[in-house]
Amino acid sequence: MALDLIDTNAGLRERLSTPRRTGTTIGFVPTMGALHAGHASLIGRARRDCGCIVVSIFVNPLQFDREDDLARYPRTLDADLDLCRALGADVVFSPTVQEMYPAPPRCTVDVGPLGDHLCGRFRPGHFRGVATVVLKLLQIVQPDAAYFGEKDAQQLAIVRRLVKDFNVPVTIVGVPTAREGDGLALSSRNQRLSREERELAPTLYRALRAAESSIAAGVTDAARIRRDATARIPADPRLKLEYLEVVTADDFQPLQQVDGDVVVAGALWVGDTRLIDNIRCEGLPNPGRDA
Ligand code: PAJ
Repeated sequence: MALDLIDTNAGLRERLSTPRRTGTTIGFVPTMGALHAGHASLIGRARRDCGCIVVSIFVNPLQFDREDDLARYPRTLDADLDLCRALGADVVFSPTVQEMYPAPPRCTVDVGPLGDHLCGRFRPGHFRGVATVVLKLLQIVQPDAAYFGEKDAQQLAIVRRLVKDFNVPVTIVGVPTAREGDGLALSSRNQRLSREERELAPTLYRALRAAESSIAAGVTDAARIRRDATARIPADPRLKLEYLEVVTADDFQPLQQVDGDVVVAGALWVGDTRLIDNIRCEGLPNPGRDA
């Protein structure tokens, strides 16, 4: 089947009326474009699960806290369409800002304490913007299932909570992080890295892996886990650690002692590119085991 490129809400409703009427399951993959193998794994998973696949490509101004970041965000629509076609997507929904926000929204989603830490602390309003656009997109597409990457673990947790709190009838599916051979998590922002910066970029993943090893070895003191992991980041003027935190896996709150499942998450500036990554670790509920 050919890939349909649709840029209006009405056009999308019309295109999806047949699959909806015939009971074909609709799988939805929201993106901001500049698609890479990470996005491809979401689309591939949706393709396996569902009969009709909708990929949205919309660079959402509401979730950018810096004008320059929004202006520099890569836009590669032709290549994105080729990839979607090759992966067997049925529809690419790529609305204009005017179509999504005919007027600045008065009502937005307050994500509560889930957005207080990690990226939420450093990017004011970011998760409000994410949750607002995701809720809008889910209302517009009305899919049976929507696919999100574990790479953006805090975003995934917020989306899961969003659909629960607002009774959105959709199944949220989390997909594991796709990585380069050296561990660097795939990201649209990686395109901005110079060759030298690209070599430094896996540093974040290595630090998170160090934290994971400490936890597996039985260290429970979060401050110590954090200290040992950040020590892995070389003193290099091009590297600036924004945060590296150990938080509870269910509600992303900081903790002092690992006691159950946690997420170790970090944000690292490499030159003027901000990279994020995280690892989920199974901490044993057995306090007092510090080595
Ligand atoms: P974007 O950064 O384009 O990511 C779209 C989806 O791809 C997200 O669910 C993200 O977690 C997933 N993804 C990105 N890199 C990945 C990787 N290396 N492995 C697996 N999945 C990966 O996230 C957004 O867009 C926006 O915030 C959005 C949800 C579309 C709302 O505007």
